[in-house]
Amino acid sequence: MSEKFRPQFHFAPRAGWMNDPNGLIRVDGVYHLFFQHDPDSALQGPMHWGHARSTDLVHWEELAVALYPTALGTCFSGSAIETAEGALKLFHTAHQSVDGRDFQTQCLVHADRALTSFTSEPANPVIDNPGLECFRDPKVIWHAATARWIMAVTLGQSIGFYSSTDLVDWRFESAFGEADGRHSDGPWECPDLLAMQAPDGSEHWVLLVGIGSGAYGAGSGSQYFIGQFDGHRFVNANTPETELWLDYGRDFYAAQSFFDRSGAVPVNIAWASNWLYARSTQTQAFRGVMSLPREMDLVEKPDGLRVAQQIPEGVKQAFGSTAGASGSYRQDIALNLGIGEQGAIALFGEREPHFVVHRTSDLTATVQTIRAEVAGMPDFAHDYLVELAYPANGPLTLELYVDRGLVELGTCDGLVWVTNLFFPEHPAGAIAVTTLQAFENA
Ligand code: FRU
Repeated sequence: MSEKFRPQFHFAPRAGWMNDPNGLIRVDGVYHLFFQHDPDSALQGPMHWGHARSTDLVHWEELAVALYPTALGTCFSGSAIETAEGALKLFHTAHQSVDGRDFQTQCLVHADRALTSFTSEPANPVIDNPGLECFRDPKVIWHAATARWIMAVTLGQSIGFYSSTDLVDWRFESAFGEADGRHSDGPWECPDLLAMQAPDGSEHWVLLVGIGSGAYGAGSGSQYFIGQFDGHRFVNANTPETELWLDYGRDFYAAQSFFDRSGAVPVNIAWASNWLYARSTQTQAFRGVMSLPREMDLVEKPDGLRVAQQIPEGVKQAFGSTAGASGSYRQDIALNLGIGEQGAIALFGEREPHFVVHRTSDLTATVQTIRAEVAGMPDFAHDYLVELAYPANGPLTLELYVDRGLVELGTCDGLVWVTNLFFPEHPAGAIAVTTLQAFENA
């Protein structure tokens, strides 16, 4: 039972609990993935940073636990950087519960080049709590234009920016987002800030923001903003009401990109779960799986620039192309639908479809995710729609990655992704793709 849902191509810890990806960094050609981890239980206990590394983003080697709780608190989410001199540093939130309230500060950790030994900065915390219950998830980047380090960090329901020249003394610059994008009862979480190039070569800044509850697919989700960042403040290029999502599914949260001094295409990884039910998913030895890595780039659309995401070629190749005994495969699907027609994708050898694509007009379609209720997990079942552009010529193409119940569905040249966890009876069961007519006759 416990290993039935262990993915083959997505990272999952050997044992214990895992949530957000932390400290993503590529050093000397090796990708390092740290993660929120409780090594001692598959429920969310005191947070440590687990650690894994990979040279190809497919095979992950889990290493010793990197960060343990200290007198300042347990180790909540954060990031990693490499300085121009080649020194490696981690930033994390130290979290304590004081009289039933969260108390959070930001800490610096010095690491060796192999990322195997870690020393807390004596001046920790490097940023004290400014009087907010939610003050967490520092993402540090180098801002070349002002030659300073910038930290993006959760300030309740906005993202704060701090600057520093020595990584120890930090100065508050500004906050963004109180009235932008999606908000709900909970805080914004796990920001990421990165410079990206538009097709015309101009530079734009992308701010990734997790929203713990009330996201598009319900519960936790990853939204993003596109704009300009001058080292002091982030200015949204879209209207405050514009909502942009890295993924419309229910299981893609706390996405972060790899820090990479080489300036390679940014690659993100997210936690493939949702706070609505993360603690009760149906695994035992371990709980928590990461998404596949995705390369991000900017594309020009009628409404402005948008982030498209592609699975790196090497990861694509690693997936076999048919649903064999393993339950881990990739399938490309091309749906030729007339207006009003539907295509259905049924997974895991089940008769009822998990996704239904409906061509609603000449140039529009919807993807509906359908999932039957799972016993004991009332928040898990859902049924929701994502609107898509149907291509003017030719079929609608979908790419589907299935890995022992975790499903990532991409379409519209990587502009739309839907990631969902399923816990089917037969994770290795076959896939069936049918048009409505054939489906009705089946
Ligand atoms: C997001 C989050 C972070 C926090 C971490 C704790 O999933 O709530 O804001 O640092 O998880 O594990």
